Amino acid sequence: MSTDATLTGVGVGPGDPELLTVKAVRLLREADLVFVPVMADRVAPAGAASPGADAGRAEATVRSHVAAERLRRLPLALDDRGGVTARRAAAWDDAARVVVEAIDAGARSLAFATIGDPNVYSTFGYLAQSVRALRPAVRVATVPGVTAMQELAARSGTPLCEGREPLTLLPATAGLALFADALAGPGTVVAYKGWRRHPELLAELRRQGRLADAVLGRSLGLPGERIGPVDDTEHDLPYLSTLLVPARREHRGGKL
Ligand SMILES: C[S@@+](CC[C@H](N)C(=O)[O-])C[C@H]1O[C@@H](n2cnc3c(N)ncnc32)[C@H](O)[C@@H]1O
Repeated sequence: MSTDATLTGVGVGPGDPELLTVKAVRLLREADLVFVPVMADRVAPAGAASPGADAGRAEATVRSHVAAERLRRLPLALDDRGGVTARRAAAWDDAARVVVEAIDAGARSLAFATIGDPNVYSTFGYLAQSVRALRPAVRVATVPGVTAMQELAARSGTPLCEGREPLTLLPATAGLALFADALAGPGTVVAYKGWRRHPELLAELRRQGRLADAVLGRSLGLPGERIGPVDDTEHDLPYLSTLLVPARREHRGGKL
């Protein structure tokens, strides 16, 4: 059993290949193997086809930096809902076994490319725990990435937080009450994973008089990208959609 292998979760940003850090590119270029998460039913060999519906977002983003023979797809991204389903747990365990087999076969530097940041709502944490359960000596590291939240702030010209304002990032899957409470507070609110729950979020924005301030980013950095005000009548969003509701600000430096 090896003791000197390192598994690094590498944040590759929301989609635009220019939003990888220099460190992320170096890690991806130097790694013995680069794993990418894909939907469970899309396990054709990595690099086999041009990026399209078959390639996960992380794979499409790193393709220009990683030779196809060092890419490996891990069927991790599932559309299961409702916590740790048996299917989800099995996918984490299966993926961990693939990583461990690669280590046992001699790989020492293993990277896992993940969209955005590996420490923000990423599968990487579950994979790392599963690998450590099988091989406690494997070193785990992460390289931060640009989050979708930051890209939407940049592209829409919205400062995320100023002075004494808090910043709340939440998953819409956590329930409407969390979103409603954050919206009633003094800071900016960013909602991830809102696609299926978008109508509920819209209704709450309307209820609290915040609809006009909100910005929606769809498929940031990807084909079909759309950034702009929230369209009250549009409910059909892609999974990769982020909602940003800026803090109420009266004048320059007012929150200092
Ligand atoms: C599982 S979380 C991954 C978050 C990611 N690790 C990050 O740091 O931004 C998935 C959610 O992130 C947001 N997201 C990630 N990439 C995006 C993109 N390219 N465009 C819009 N939203 C995105 C969406 O809200 C999506 O539902």
